[in-house]
Amino acid sequence: MKRILVTGALGQIGSELVARLRQDYGADNVIETDIHAPTQTSDSPTGGSGPFELLDVTDGQRMAELVDKHQVDTIIHLAALLSVTAEKNPLLAWNLNMGGLMNALEVARQFGCQVFYPSSIAAFGPLTPRFQTPQDTIQRPTTMYGINKVAGELLCDYYFRKYGVDARGVRFPGLISHKTPPGGGTTDYAVEIYYEAVRTGRYVCPIAKGTYMDMMYMEDAITAVIDLMEADGSRLKHRNAFNISAMSVDPEMIRSAIQTWIPTFEMAYEVDSEKQSIADSWPDAIDSSAAHEEWGFRARYNLDATTREMIVHLRKKFAVI
Ligand SMILES: NC(=O)c1ccc[n+]([C@@H]2O[C@H](COP(=O)([O-])OP(=O)(O)OC[C@H]3O[C@@H](n4cnc5c(N)ncnc54)[C@H](O)[C@@H]3O)[C@@H](O)[C@H]2O)c1
Repeated sequence: MKRILVTGALGQIGSELVARLRQDYGADNVIETDIHAPTQTSDSPTGGSGPFELLDVTDGQRMAELVDKHQVDTIIHLAALLSVTAEKNPLLAWNLNMGGLMNALEVARQFGCQVFYPSSIAAFGPLTPRFQTPQDTIQRPTTMYGINKVAGELLCDYYFRKYGVDARGVRFPGLISHKTPPGGGTTDYAVEIYYEAVRTGRYVCPIAKGTYMDMMYMEDAITAVIDLMEADGSRLKHRNAFNISAMSVDPEMIRSAIQTWIPTFEMAYEVDSEKQSIADSWPDAIDSSAAHEEWGFRARYNLDATTREMIVHLRKKFAVI
């Protein structure tokens, strides 16, 4: 990676990834793009420290023009509609999630770029083995987002086999972070719970106790993107859709981890049936061994370390002592 264009860069992942890429690769070599411009206060932890361009990823011609203009060699394609939002507007989700990826792959083919594409644990479904979910297994997702993600994984493999496009990707679990709020996913509760614990000391959880899902602290997710993109391609047997996870947790586990820091923290449940049914269709704990073997993936933050980081940073953010 030398000249990197990031789509959907103002979202939960992009805002932190761009900051790290600019540190590692030079501010001017990372082109931040999104469908709307950053507001200095909320969106842009990168503080406008490098080039920003408006880009709607459904506009393939504009994407090609930007890749050409900035001499881009790597496209990190993050723009998407996430699981809960996609379920509310499936047609928009299909057009954005599939149309945007198709444009990224076509532009990459035309300009010889490497591509990063994030899939998700949503690419699995109710028929998938729930525990130690293998890298290669049954994938029959029941959500529009999950269907998009499986199709996306396959498209990336297809562009590599047919055109030699160096497309790589992971299946992210739910990502826990304190800089930019999440954008409408089923695992958002695992971020909101920390915000509410610090701000108000109480949280009403929309996901039922005993619902286990894979999660990861954002710093591990960002490191994983860079490590995979920089990995020796000859060692990759899979290339796309690597399972990666740092922990499998349910709401009660997060509650008790928070209570070691905030003993008075209280949590109640008001289960949201739509979110719960999506969560129930996903695995409890996926097996990340292929990522470990093929490119050395290893998560550094477990639940306790993640909780410490979240509480410390959110206390600073909200000036809570
Ligand atoms: N955050 C997670 O927990 C998680 C987990 C698994 C996979 N992923 C995947 O990672 C990627 C990024 O996720 P995120 O959490 O940062 O999402 P997000 O919702 O926080 O951000 C998405 C960004 O895309 C932008 N966007 C929307 N429509 C656009 C368009 N037409 N053109 C250009 N930009 C547009 C939005 O403005 C937003 O800044 C997605 O593909 C998502 O499916 C995320």
